[in-house]
Amino acid sequence: MCGIVGYIGERNCVPILINGLKRLEYRGYDSAGISVIFDHDSTVVKNKGKVSLLENKIENLNLSARLGIGHTRWATHGAPNELNAHPHFNAEKNLYVIHNGIIENYQTIKKGLQKLGYEFITQTDSEVLPHLIDSFIKKGNSLFKSVQLALGEVEGTYGIAVIYENEPDKIIAARKGSPLVLGIGENENFVASDVSAILAHTKQIVYLEDGDIIQVYKDHFTAKTILDKEVEKEVHEITMSLDEIDKGGFPHFMLKEIMEQPESIRNSMRGRILFDEGTSKLGGLESVADALAGSKRILISACGTSWHAGLVGKYMLEQFTRIPTEVEYASEFRYRNPIIEKGDTIFFISQSGETADTLAALRESKIRGALGLGICNVVGSSIARESNAGVYTHAGPEIGVASTKAFTSQLVVLSLITLLIARKKNMSLVDGKTIAGELSLIPDKISEILKLNYEIEKIANAFKDAKNFLYLGRGYNFPVALEGALKLKEISYIHAEGYPAAEMKHGPIALIDEKMPVVFIAPKDSTYEKIISNIQEVRARGGRIIAVASEKDNDIDKLVDYTIKIPDTIRMLMPLLTVIPLQLLAYHIAVKKGLNVDQPRNLAKSVTVE
Ligand code: AGP
Ligand code: GLU
Repeated sequence: MCGIVGYIGERNCVPILINGLKRLEYRGYDSAGISVIFDHDSTVVKNKGKVSLLENKIENLNLSARLGIGHTRWATHGAPNELNAHPHFNAEKNLYVIHNGIIENYQTIKKGLQKLGYEFITQTDSEVLPHLIDSFIKKGNSLFKSVQLALGEVEGTYGIAVIYENEPDKIIAARKGSPLVLGIGENENFVASDVSAILAHTKQIVYLEDGDIIQVYKDHFTAKTILDKEVEKEVHEITMSLDEIDKGGFPHFMLKEIMEQPESIRNSMRGRILFDEGTSKLGGLESVADALAGSKRILISACGTSWHAGLVGKYMLEQFTRIPTEVEYASEFRYRNPIIEKGDTIFFISQSGETADTLAALRESKIRGALGLGICNVVGSSIARESNAGVYTHAGPEIGVASTKAFTSQLVVLSLITLLIARKKNMSLVDGKTIAGELSLIPDKISEILKLNYEIEKIANAFKDAKNFLYLGRGYNFPVALEGALKLKEISYIHAEGYPAAEMKHGPIALIDEKMPVVFIAPKDSTYEKIISNIQEVRARGGRIIAVASEKDNDIDKLVDYTIKIPDTIRMLMPLLTVIPLQLLAYHIAVKKGLNVDQPRNLAKSVTVE
């Protein structure tokens, strides 16, 4: 996981690289660096920390060049310091490589190169690349051939960009397991790990596939595979706009994305609800809709927040379609020889569409003949392209590392899928219409909840110094408890756990004392009485309670310390509402603690390494 950007053309590449890196910073931010090539000379500048620090360093250097590459790192091998920052280079400092991913056999390659006299100065896996490429150049190969030969020896994953002082008319880029795109401009071309880095300059995009290697000149490009076969690449015109990836006046992307949810959800459902027929229309699933409804079993595979959405999906699908549904972490799914049978459908949920574990699970399930369907946000992402069919969530670019609007749009898509299958099976028109009608009211109800922002900020103030948190919910709201706890952990570094409320008495109750805040998700549904009993149990032990409750519930206030009152909807859609206050609570606690909400420590937006 990291950000890659490269430029070749007639303009000064330095500001283009720096601005591109700023756009990519959400992907990794422990260090950054650029290298540029001028007439028969080159230089590299790196810095630990944010891109802005690199920018300050570069400002004094008066750099100007027409060819360059830049990188923001999310360290996997070697400490996040200046030395280990990319670009890495050869001994002559005339060949530069940036790399996203992991070279799994780097120790073996390194030993071989050391025997040939190559010296290594960093602790990274990536540094083997410039030396290995250099060793092939020294045998008389061109840069392109040398990169091809080097990659032939490499095991693991990579998205790379390479530049070389002696061939200053090109960038070589290649991918295997890490996303990479080529951006086509007028007398200039770009490479990037995602389009946001180059969107300011072009909307003409070529997606690289695994195994592709390209030579990018300022006015054309050529494409082959690492094994030297010719490949045809198609140019796509993308529709995303720059405004969509700006903060729009909010202090943080996370807050902007929380506040955007009424709109992002409208986009997820736009044109997809058939009110009269009480069902949904999902273009991407049309070709497989019957197979889907005939599934003997549904599996859902995902990571993190997307996995939580999958868990809500299980509750929906089993309740309404009666198809047994299992949810599994993609990382476990891919390595445990899962049972996949004819008639199984597997959904892969991923905001980025690039999560390495989820992508690998999709590939594994396709080998075993399952119907693999993607639920992705990023258009053109690897999972979206490699799945048999799928649905885009249309939440718009999500930049904040803590996922918010992507989660709610995943829930919308899962409810539309549930509606589609259930209506093809045994759901009545009346029930279908009820769900469709309730779904269409969700955006306005979320707008109502967002008005509680200030109130929730005050609650956050009271709890910002807590060391631990428990989140409890039942049924559909159990996954929301997990999601609330994950949000808090990610951005405030407060230890938090989510549990099914009834499980509390089987262990976590031992943790309860007057220092332990407990968040109950307690809307008025069929489990309300039970959850009130759980609240009493916490109260009896002195725990401090925040309850997310129904606006009509006047009884709960006297049992808890703080209530956040929200509108009601049908049970299956309740997570779309109950999660909103938990997102805001986590956000405000992190802000009050003075933490970097959009770029929490150790995390990256999409985890493209195992
Ligand atoms: C969410 O807040 C996290 N940053 C993380 O758990 C994320 O949901 C997970 O890495 C999966 O990402 P994906 O949806 O892009 O596959
Ligand atoms: N494995 C490389 C490193 O640790 C690349 C990490 C990344 O993708 O940023 O430097």
